[in-house]
Amino acid sequence: MVLRPNPVKKVAKAPIKGTKMNTTIESKTSMRNCIFAKSTNMIDLRSDTVTQPTSEMRAFMLAAPVGDDVFMEDPTILELEAYAAQLFGKEAALFCSSGTQTNQIAINVHVQPGGEVICHEESHIYKYEGGGIAKNSGASVRLLSGDRGRITAASIEKWINPAHDVHFPLTQLVSLEDTANRGGGAIYDLDELQNIRELCTKLGLPLHLDGARVFNALIENGMEAAQYGQFFDSISVCLSKGLGAPVGSVLLGTKSFIERARRVRKVMGGGMRQAGIIAAGGLYALQNNRNRLADDHRHAKALELALQKCSYIAEVVPVQTNIVVAILKDESARDHLLAQLAENKIRCMAFGPGMIRMVTHLNVSEQDIAYCVNILEKM
Ligand SMILES: Cc1ncc(COP(=O)(O)O)c(C=O)c1O
Repeated sequence: MVLRPNPVKKVAKAPIKGTKMNTTIESKTSMRNCIFAKSTNMIDLRSDTVTQPTSEMRAFMLAAPVGDDVFMEDPTILELEAYAAQLFGKEAALFCSSGTQTNQIAINVHVQPGGEVICHEESHIYKYEGGGIAKNSGASVRLLSGDRGRITAASIEKWINPAHDVHFPLTQLVSLEDTANRGGGAIYDLDELQNIRELCTKLGLPLHLDGARVFNALIENGMEAAQYGQFFDSISVCLSKGLGAPVGSVLLGTKSFIERARRVRKVMGGGMRQAGIIAAGGLYALQNNRNRLADDHRHAKALELALQKCSYIAEVVPVQTNIVVAILKDESARDHLLAQLAENKIRCMAFGPGMIRMVTHLNVSEQDIAYCVNILEKM
């Protein structure tokens, strides 16, 4: 059975109970934002992690009721967890400090020492989490190749170790990334996700999603989060990427999974106290900033078009969401190009030999994109 995508609904802006906007604070924070924006004076396309919380978000955070979250008494965190779990049709959620933490906790709960995790060879959980799979969970990794950071049910099936042969580590988890960062923001095909889900169910394997940019995927595939959530046993959702919150991620799953995850979070030193003040940024982002991701995708497309016309660019990886990856004709010219862009107040990132990355986000406006297009065309 293939799950059918539904059109994305507009998200209602729901304030936290007891939140009042303080106009004095509001105007002061606005002022500070303006001062900050002026002081940097750069269009920062390195990542969607560089966003500044808006004055509305800051006011919302300041007004958030808080309590001791290790005692599970922080009303804002409880509200964020309930909201996120319900959004993805999951029983429970856990607020954590980062996407690395939510991924690593999930792996630790799913996998025993000596077990094996299947993931893409360029996935964040393997490549950019400091060897955490080995260090935190004592597990090995089976790395699969695949188009733009994605793997298929057929390739996963080929690499599941036979449980009866003691030579092999037991395969205990499949992990996907949607959108795939190293894949230039590529999204999974829904039929393929369904195939992977069916394979994991058949083999009794848990399926984890690194959903650092899951809302970018949902905007494009048009599926409701609650429906999409049914593909996975656990989901890590970042609040501090395109959604624009300053800190935090949520881990989603069944009640018993989250109970075990809470224990692992504590062991990893991730039990926070009056953290509702930061969780409020995440709650505000979830309630207000999901639909605007479509603007970022439109902006990324405009950058793709401009780059395609540049004589020094060999290829632009087709843009699907908010990440633009361009491959230079002359590999050795990358750092010079980055320096020239920086001289023109545009910050981008090296993304491997002869490759640069641009990521659109909350703090990059229509005018900023028009400016970037103009500079790219002139260079
Ligand atoms: C795909 C992906 N997963 C996980 C993370 C980790 O998030 P954090 O930086 O909050 O640890 C990132 C960070 O950029 C990411 O791109």
